[in-house]
Amino acid sequence: MSLKKVVILFSGEGSNLENLIATLHQKTFGTTTIEVVAAITNKPTAKGIEKANKYGVDSIILDHTEFDSREAFDTKLVETIQNLEVELTVMAGFMRILTPIFTNNIQAINIHPSLLPLFKGASALERSFESDMQVAGVSVHEVITEVDGGKIIAQKCFDKSEMDFATFKAKIHQTEHEIFPEAVIKVLQTI
Ligand code: GRF
Repeated sequence: MSLKKVVILFSGEGSNLENLIATLHQKTFGTTTIEVVAAITNKPTAKGIEKANKYGVDSIILDHTEFDSREAFDTKLVETIQNLEVELTVMAGFMRILTPIFTNNIQAINIHPSLLPLFKGASALERSFESDMQVAGVSVHEVITEVDGGKIIAQKCFDKSEMDFATFKAKIHQTEHEIFPEAVIKVLQTI
């Protein structure tokens, strides 16, 4: 039996954060027990703070507006994560572009609301919805310096051709909630 510690990074609503904690925190999968040791947010007003709190998971707030540069913020973020001694960092709607200070030092995975390598970066949900494609989906990938450019760990798609935007958005979130916990377990079992 091995205990694997993770930290979850988020910026807003925190629906993925909540789903990850509810599904994984202090649960055992095969020989791996997962502990979500903390959540970290760059937004003091993020709704996810309350959500994590419900499960007894503390949030650490690192307000990016209090730092002079991306590098200064990333240096503090890396130090904070390293002090937690986690096996894996999980980015669940963490809306920050990361510098090599982060990507060279932290093993992290991220969820993105498109079928990568399509629609990398901001407004992926809107661009995916508006495209001529009949299918859309979500991806979990390794975090590297190129935004949304790392190796794909998990993906799931669905037919979007009959959907309005609200239905599409709800389906994206539902699909994220289906594949993200499985992807975290899969990665932790290889560490
Ligand atoms: C998700 O759609 C994720 O793919 C994107 O930001 C959104 C976060 O949603 N990067 P939530 O905060 O987990 O509800």
